Formats: sequence, C-alpha cells, structure tokens
Amino acid sequence: MTVRVVQFSTGNVGVHALRQIIESPHLELVGVHASGPAKVGRDAGELCGMGLTGVIATDDVAALVALRADCVVYTSQAETRPQDALAEIIAFLEAGTNVAATSMVWLVHPAHAEAWLREPLAEACARGGSSLYVNGIDPGFSGDTLPLAALTLCQSVERLVVQEVFDYGTYDDADFTGVSFGFGLAPGDETPTLFLPGVLTSIWGGPVKVVAESLGVVLDEIRESHDTWLATEAISCTMMHVDPGHVAAVRFAVEGIKDGRSVIAMEHVNRLTDAAAPEWPQPPEGRLGVHRVVITGSPGVEINTHVGLDGVDHNQGGVIATAARAVNAVPAVVRARPGLLAVRDLPADQASGLLRHRSSAQSG
Ligand SMILES: NC(=O)c1ccc[n+]([C@@H]2O[C@H](COP(=O)([O-])OP(=O)(O)OC[C@H]3O[C@@H](n4cnc5c(N)ncnc54)[C@H](OP(=O)(O)O)[C@@H]3O)[C@@H](O)[C@H]2O)c1
Repeated sequence: MTVRVVQFSTGNVGVHALRQIIESPHLELVGVHASGPAKVGRDAGELCGMGLTGVIATDDVAALVALRADCVVYTSQAETRPQDALAEIIAFLEAGTNVAATSMVWLVHPAHAEAWLREPLAEACARGGSSLYVNGIDPGFSGDTLPLAALTLCQSVERLVVQEVFDYGTYDDADFTGVSFGFGLAPGDETPTLFLPGVLTSIWGGPVKVVAESLGVVLDEIRESHDTWLATEAISCTMMHVDPGHVAAVRFAVEGIKDGRSVIAMEHVNRLTDAAAPEWPQPPEGRLGVHRVVITGSPGVEINTHVGLDGVDHNQGGVIATAARAVNAVPAVVRARPGLLAVRDLPADQASGLLRHRSSAQSG
C-alpha cells in the first residue's frame, strides 16, 4: 500500500525529507508546505534539486490538512515558534493525519514532555485517531536507539555515557543552532536559550530517564551543567565568524544521579572548527563528529556512529540522518496505535525500500 504523505517545510532538514519521500517506492508525495514568495508556487522537485513532481508548494495549511494524507512529515522550525507549530501539528492530527516530525525536540520522549505540550497533542490524537512521533539524530537516535541497543550487549552496567562530539563549523544554521547555543557571544552577554535553567534537562532529561527506565532504576536526581570556551584568535566558518574572546565551543551534560553517583549522562561537545577547544574531547580517528555510547560494566561497550561518509560532510550527514529518522518511520507511524509515540512504540525494522543503486542514491 502506498502511503500518501505531505512534507511540511523545505529547510535544512525538510529538503532532505522531501527528496527521500519523492524517491521512496512506498510513499506518495501529495502536498508540500513552504513559506515565502521565493518558494510558494514552485514544484516540490524543483525545491529539492530533483525533477518536476507536479506537486506545488503552498503556504495554505488548511488546504494541506484537507488532503487527508496518511501522514505529514513535519520539519518546520518549531522551537522558536512553539505555539504556531503546535497549532499546525494539531490541525493535522485532528483531521486524522498522522505526524512524523523532527521538530519540537522536547517530544522525542513524550512521556517526559511538559503538560502544555503533551496534553493538547494527546487530545488531538484522540480526537483524530492519529499518532505523533518525533525523532532525530540527537536528541533521538543517540539517546534512545543507540544506548538501548548497546545495553542488550551488557551483563552489568556501572555507567552509561552518550556523547555528541561534533565540529559545527560547516553547519549552516547560525540563526537557530548558532543563537541557541550561544556561539559568538562575549562573556557577560545574555545567557543563550539552551543554558537557561531547565532547558538542557527539558531536551536531554528525557533520554536519561528512558535509559534509567530500561535499567529499572529510579534516579534520585537529574543534574545539568555547561561550560564555554572563548576563541583565542578569530575563527571564520560556515556557521559564523567568531572574534577572539567570544564563544567558539560549548560543552554540556545532563546526568542521572543514583546514590550520589552519575550513572547515566547525555553529553555534548560542540566546537566551531578544530581550532576551538582542542583540549576538550575529540571524535576518534581524526574525524570531525561522532555520536557515541560508552558503557562501563561487563563486558564494557563503546559504539561510535559516524554519519556522512564518502565526501558527505558530517553536519550534512547529521541533517540527512535526522530527516531519515522521520521519513523511515512513516509507515510504522501510520500503522501505530493513536497517541504520542516514542521509539519503543515502533518496530526497529524501518528500512524497507531503502536499497538503491548508487547513482540514484542521495548524496547530500
Ligand atoms: N533531533 C535532532 O537531531 C534534530 C536535528 C536537526 C533539526 N532538528 C529539528 O528539526 C526542525 C527543523 O530543523 P532545520 O534545521 O531544518 O530548521 P530550519 O532550517 O531553521 O527551518 C526549517 C524551516 O522551517 C520553516 N520556518 C521557519 N520559520 C518559519 C516561520 N516563522 N513560519 C513558517 N515556517 C517557518 C521554513 O520552511 P520553508 O523554507 O519551507 O518555508 C524553514 O526553512 C527544528 O525544529 C530542529 O530543532 C532536530
């Protein structure tokens, strides 16, 4: 059965979701949302560098809802405009259209999301008999699929650490990632969103709790911490230009505490080029990025994930992989029970239709 899909947004992630939907033998693109006169009215294929599809981009949300698609892949920027995004997602859910999303990163682990977000979405799912699934690479894969798979190799666990160690220099996302992480700020500037009290925990506390639940552990406390590194000389990269004395690297952690010990940690080290924070943890083998889980215990496990091989930039790889996490889940989300879904509610096997000849494969 072909699944009828609307792609909502054609940004960093959306353009890759759109390509994958168009190429998929199991999915039929029936609508695409874009905002702004440069994109509205243009063919979906044109917007993602492919051939014409006959599907024309619109900013008319009601018209897209009226298509009664099986699923919408929602990748529109949501964290900076949560109420608008909430209204758009609810409109689809109430109409019976399922939603597979990368946006609203607080919903990767819906049981741990705040009530203002969880409750209206759960009610919309109930009204429409539909389901919502949010995932990505981090938060997402690195904090759920990766550690849950690694734990199946263990006989005992002392500590589990998940790390994203990534050079964001080539990431073209100054407006959101740049601003929210505080790159380019000077000491004494306003605290960036990510480091306001409770924000790290609202995003990475969910995966800490999911791992704790998997271990059958009741945590005493969840702690968050962060640190910044100031450029010693000017750094210019795709993300932005950073003057000396301004933030060129950040690191942070959200940790689950049991009996006074940090037993689960979700950590990030994000730098702008390899000139930044050379003394902080680095990816292995001279690479520019890694999503890694390290479990101390018996036998001890380390899994390093590198997205973007054969010339595909690691940041581009992360964005493509994020799109894939949503698009690959679409058939399972359509079949799932109504309600808010987490990774453990869906089958791990989501790869049907992915095998291609290299000349037709997505290369970034
Ligand atoms: N969990 C993960 O690993 C992960 C990784 C990356 C991103 N994400 C999440 O995925 C989402 C998309 O990320 P992204 O990097 O693709 O974001 P982005 O490029 O900053 O924005 C995506 C698109 O959202 C639409 N948009 C932005 N502001 C809008 C507004 N005011 N009104 C209507 N539409 C608006 C635009 O779509 P059009 O250009 O089509 O108009 C824009 O291109 C974000 O919520 C992000 O947090 C998650």
